[in-house]
Amino acid sequence: MTTPSMSMLTGATALGHVAELRSTPLSLLERFNRECGDLGQLRFAYQSVVIVNSPSLVGELLVEKARSFRKSRFIRAMLHPFVGDGLFTSEGDLWRRQRKVMAPIFHPGNLGTFADAMTGAATRCVDTWRSGQVVDVSRETTRIAMSVAGTTLFGIDTFDEADELGEALTVALRWASEASASLGLLGQVELSFGVRRVARWLRIDQQEGTRARRLVDGAVERLERPILLPGRRTSELRRAIAVLDERVARMIADRRASAMERPDLLTRLLVSRDEQGRPMSDRQLRDEILTLFVAGHETTATALAWAFYLLARHPDALARLESEVAELGGRLPTPADLPRLGYALAVFKESLRMYPPVPYYEREALEPVEIANRAFAPGTYFGVLPWAIHHRADWWPEPRRFDPLRHSPDLEEARPRYAYIPFGAGPRVCIGNHFALMEGPLVLATIVQRARLVPESPREVLPDPVALTFRPLGGIPMRAHLRSRLLGSPRSDSAVSESR
Ligand code: HEM
Repeated sequence: MTTPSMSMLTGATALGHVAELRSTPLSLLERFNRECGDLGQLRFAYQSVVIVNSPSLVGELLVEKARSFRKSRFIRAMLHPFVGDGLFTSEGDLWRRQRKVMAPIFHPGNLGTFADAMTGAATRCVDTWRSGQVVDVSRETTRIAMSVAGTTLFGIDTFDEADELGEALTVALRWASEASASLGLLGQVELSFGVRRVARWLRIDQQEGTRARRLVDGAVERLERPILLPGRRTSELRRAIAVLDERVARMIADRRASAMERPDLLTRLLVSRDEQGRPMSDRQLRDEILTLFVAGHETTATALAWAFYLLARHPDALARLESEVAELGGRLPTPADLPRLGYALAVFKESLRMYPPVPYYEREALEPVEIANRAFAPGTYFGVLPWAIHHRADWWPEPRRFDPLRHSPDLEEARPRYAYIPFGAGPRVCIGNHFALMEGPLVLATIVQRARLVPESPREVLPDPVALTFRPLGGIPMRAHLRSRLLGSPRSDSAVSESR
């Protein structure tokens, strides 16, 4: 392998690239592709990050050398207050044990029972629309994805953000979004690095069991959880966490007391056992449930919103999707229909390419490591920018063009393995990827069967650079025209009515 050059992206100010990322994220990412190519650096305030930006380097970082890295402490600090040590944020033995226990639950063969929850949530959502009404598609897809999460996790049918639990999660997510832009939190995590560096220098890290080592470990541990200063936001967050704790504890207790007959994820987590035959503790169950809720609904909602936005701007693609959906004959799609919904899946995948909901993920080197033939010290931070890789013209010709057919099986086969990474890669790849790839086409088909969504304005919508996921900034207002009959149903026409 040759050694690619590595330079800091130009334009860094006193806060590095933070200001540009917050104001014009897509142009910064395009600039990164142009100026840095396979390898480069960005700076977030005082922290420099090495960005790997080619499929082979992504494979090296996330797959081949995964053992030399841990996830970012900053992201952990941001999410820890409400998801604790769930699968997304945990590390080491705890993560390995939990991943092993949870993997079978998310095996594609075990997900079919959740399809009704997906089509049901989409149907209920459309049923609340009046024909001709303007809806914010990103809010509607959040309602759908939250409801899917509520049903599949807890077996609650009518769950949405108006529910007390949904409201508490929305507050906690808003807090995490704001924390993601907080220089205070970044500084705190940096301080934890400083403490560890000094401890290494003084060799305290090698003094197992001493008071100095305990003090250092305690300080580092404390600095990796956010220090919540008094104020309105903090009290809102504390109230939200109290609601989450109370409701989840009650659901676990109720389910234990009942015969645990429901086939939802809570039951599956409750009956799961590790290799030694031990069940999860209540604290761990709570952390996993909230992790799945957050990781599962926010990302999928964002992807679906972009899919409707892109379809509305590409009438040919919409027409092709409509004719595929019409083939269902007006029935609600089931998992058995998924092979017939190949174009719906391709639309969803292309939306994930153009607007990857997780726009950035990070790793920290735990030991001296070589990446791209270069030596890096422990503590070096590495980042992956899926949007940038998904817009490298080498693997994605005309990258700004929406073209679902890029995801045909033969083209997928011909591309390097890690040129498409909306779900990450390697041991920490998204555990819910098959779940999302089922929910996406089923929800798209169910909505297209019932309504046509027309954009209210030709304005280009941009991703929100400060939100936790790549949400559409300012929402996506669209007029919902309900069909007089379900698309493809007997005596159907594709006419859309203005009233219902
Ligand atoms: C379109 C939808 C989704 C996208 C784009 C997405 C994206 C991602 C990405 C990029 C990661 C890896 C982050 C990293 O390596 O640092 C991840 C991890 C994870 N995702 Fe997803 N996700 C989606 C849906 C879901 C769903 C539906 C669930 C659960 C029901 C879920 C649960 C998780 C969990 C638990 C992890 C942590 C896995 C681990 O570290 O072992 N995600 N997701």
